[in-house]
Amino acid sequence: MSSPYLHLENITKRFGSFTANDQITLSIEAGSIHALLGENGAGKSTLMNILCGLYQPDEGQIFLQGQSVKLSSPGTAIRHGIGMIHQHFMLVPQLSVTENIILGQDFSLNLNLRQKAEAIAAMSQAYGLEVDPLAIVGDLPVGIQQRVEILKALYRQAKLLILDEPTAVLTPPEVESLFIILRQLAARDHTIIFISHKLDEVLSLCDQVTVLRRGKVAATCSSQSTTRPDLAQLMVGREVLFHLNKPAIAPGSVVLEVQNLQVVDDRNLPAIRGISFQIRAGEILGIAGVDGNGQRELADAIAGLRPIRQGSIFLVGQNVTHWTPQQRVKQLKMGYIPEDRQKMGLVMSFSIARNLILKRFKRLPFCRRFFLRPRTIAHYANTVIQTFDIRAINSQLKVSQLSGGNQQKVVLARELSGDPCLIVAMQPTRGLDVGATEYVQQALLAERQRGAAILYISTELEEVMTMSDRIAIIYAGQFIETLDAKAASVEKVGLLMAGGEEG
Ligand SMILES: Nc1ncnc2c1ncn2[C@@H]1O[C@H](COP(=O)(O)OP(=O)(O)OP(=O)(O)O)[C@@H](O)[C@H]1O
Ligand SMILES: [Mg+2]
Repeated sequence: MSSPYLHLENITKRFGSFTANDQITLSIEAGSIHALLGENGAGKSTLMNILCGLYQPDEGQIFLQGQSVKLSSPGTAIRHGIGMIHQHFMLVPQLSVTENIILGQDFSLNLNLRQKAEAIAAMSQAYGLEVDPLAIVGDLPVGIQQRVEILKALYRQAKLLILDEPTAVLTPPEVESLFIILRQLAARDHTIIFISHKLDEVLSLCDQVTVLRRGKVAATCSSQSTTRPDLAQLMVGREVLFHLNKPAIAPGSVVLEVQNLQVVDDRNLPAIRGISFQIRAGEILGIAGVDGNGQRELADAIAGLRPIRQGSIFLVGQNVTHWTPQQRVKQLKMGYIPEDRQKMGLVMSFSIARNLILKRFKRLPFCRRFFLRPRTIAHYANTVIQTFDIRAINSQLKVSQLSGGNQQKVVLARELSGDPCLIVAMQPTRGLDVGATEYVQQALLAERQRGAAILYISTELEEVMTMSDRIAIIYAGQFIETLDAKAASVEKVGLLMAGGEEG
């Protein structure tokens, strides 16, 4: 038998006393799509960072086509044909597609950008990865930015492509086209490692699956011989229900009232074009829609992070239209889970403990007569770490050293604390494993039960459908219909999301 394309032998990686990868042995066949699964903090990104030369393993060996290799730097990994598309994109938004692709690769004093652009256009055609080589990356939708990342890897002659949660930020049609691209690449003998928390995707796309649990390989099996519940069980070590217990509640008084709201986007173009709605205590209003139809601007406007052109916002009967976010948080107790945890939800260089008290650090019990009280803070942080099952050695760890899903848990823990009367949750389960997703959804349902009003924004239709009491479908900055969740079908909502007139 020929040797596998990639073979890892007893790879171990420690961070201080913590073992992130523990004796990992794994083989991946050439031309196959191999899934890497595991709960948040299981060690997936760490292992992949070893493969792309960012980290050095403490023990173990890596074999490429039977040859032992030492991937001592990202440059070496690239020379060995390993390309990584990271969990958080690493493109420069101000530069063009062409500039991003050749960045760090083709340095020359008489660089002919036009020629490069043509070469890249030809390459993108050949691989069916359509993208305008002259476009500025920051202007492109996420799905297309991801193609640029893939092209960048292919431009560097990558034969092994690693995609770390590539679908977390994609819309369903973008996921479809990504899968077509990946299948084509595999058919052309590229080998692909695919990381995702979405088990259906894994089963439909991948040939083999390896599950990591707490740094160790829990199992490797073929997609055909396993099921979604089996994989979930292997990942979390317990049964996952895939079913929410949502008791009926009679909604209370109006908590949030939005009247004829008009908001512009970052480029000063109308993003929200006259939206009115109410949310009552104990009620979840879900917003369903394709990404980029005004969801972000709506959430920001309610949180007070974006100026309001016209219209008003009332929170518990008070007109807060022009209040600062601080006023909203302090006086009316609002929780906000922003879409982008790294840019807006967290201070990455602060510890978990400091991030947890960001909104309340000036007050008792965390602060007394201008002095922070480290022991109280640490004690509080440890309790929260336990309740939310944040995987970290201790509360002093920097948030930048947490795994993606655990960063999200820190944001949630902070925003759900202190009994908020309104919670604006945007993509709250993005990047979370099946167990953590279940946990977060239960936590939000508990807040609903307590009497919080919740605005639940997600591009995952199924998620909106199960969580909401009512569903508003947003399209081009307007609510085109609001439905009672019980009466809504996936087909009908899906059609409305695409801008369809009737269901
Ligand atoms: N530089 C670092 N210093 C200390 N600990 C780290 C560092 N990088 C990762 N870790 C820890 O190693 C563990 C594994 O992290 P990793 O990012 O590999 O998880 P993951 O499986 O990719 O999770 P997720 O699904 O949430 O992205 C985590 O507990 C994390 O806190
Ligand atoms: Mg990760």
